Amino acid sequence: MSDFEEGYKRVKGIKIYYKIFKAKNEMAKLMTMHGGPGMSHDYLLPLADLSRDGITVIFYDQFGCGRSEEPELENFNIDYGVEEAEALRKDIFGNEKIFLMGSSYGGALALAYSLKYQDNLKGLIISGGLSSIPMTESEMSKLVEELSPESRKALRMGDMNSEEYKKGVYEFYHKHLLRMDNYPNEVMDSLNYGDQRNVYKIMNGPNEFTINGTIKDWDITDKISSIRIPTLITCGEFDEVTPNIAALIHSKIENSEFVVFKNCSHLSMWENRELYNKTLSKFIKEKI
Ligand code: ALA
Repeated sequence: MSDFEEGYKRVKGIKIYYKIFKAKNEMAKLMTMHGGPGMSHDYLLPLADLSRDGITVIFYDQFGCGRSEEPELENFNIDYGVEEAEALRKDIFGNEKIFLMGSSYGGALALAYSLKYQDNLKGLIISGGLSSIPMTESEMSKLVEELSPESRKALRMGDMNSEEYKKGVYEFYHKHLLRMDNYPNEVMDSLNYGDQRNVYKIMNGPNEFTINGTIKDWDITDKISSIRIPTLITCGEFDEVTPNIAALIHSKIENSEFVVFKNCSHLSMWENRELYNKTLSKFIKEKI
């Protein structure tokens, strides 16, 4: 990886952590938004490889996530996340237009950002992203129904501290979040931050497939057709945010491109790092 710069910016009064991998022969700039809500940028670090390909990549930990400070509880919402992203973008890039990538909930945030600020973007990438939490919840329940009978039973019983329930979560995560036997440290860091800090519990819920937090009714599907910038939508074949969800976003955004990564799930950037980055790089270079 190329050299990086990291630090904190004061954004809307609180310290927000950022990390920039600067490309040597820079052709484009890409800002990334992590998921959760409540995880951290760490699991997105495979995208830093793009900096060897002329694309400067910026990561940050959103409010109350990872290494960033927490705002007042009343600000734990998507609108605040949109204004935070815009303030950070302006601070780092000024008037320059950039590409924006959002993964998972970060994809929801990137769509919400684009509704208001698409004029500041050259292009948008939504990876395992969503425009509707109710649809995501319902698609995830279908995936839960396809788990082993033991897992289904334990998850239905709902005793989150039982060993059986934990095994059910393990099965779901290893089929639909990341299909790797051993999760990389960067992914574990993001999951651990989700557990340790407040945003995930408050905004999302207890685990990936139980979204009963404050975002549970959020849905902007009927608004996203106003997004007119070049858009790439990706997901994994077995993604917990299912291909049906990605296809819906694709159907709403005119001229958007849609790629499904075979044999991958939610974190395709780990499952097929080379193809994932190649796909993003090609899209960005075509739209500079
Ligand atoms: N909880 C999912 C994510 O953002 C949707 O990772």
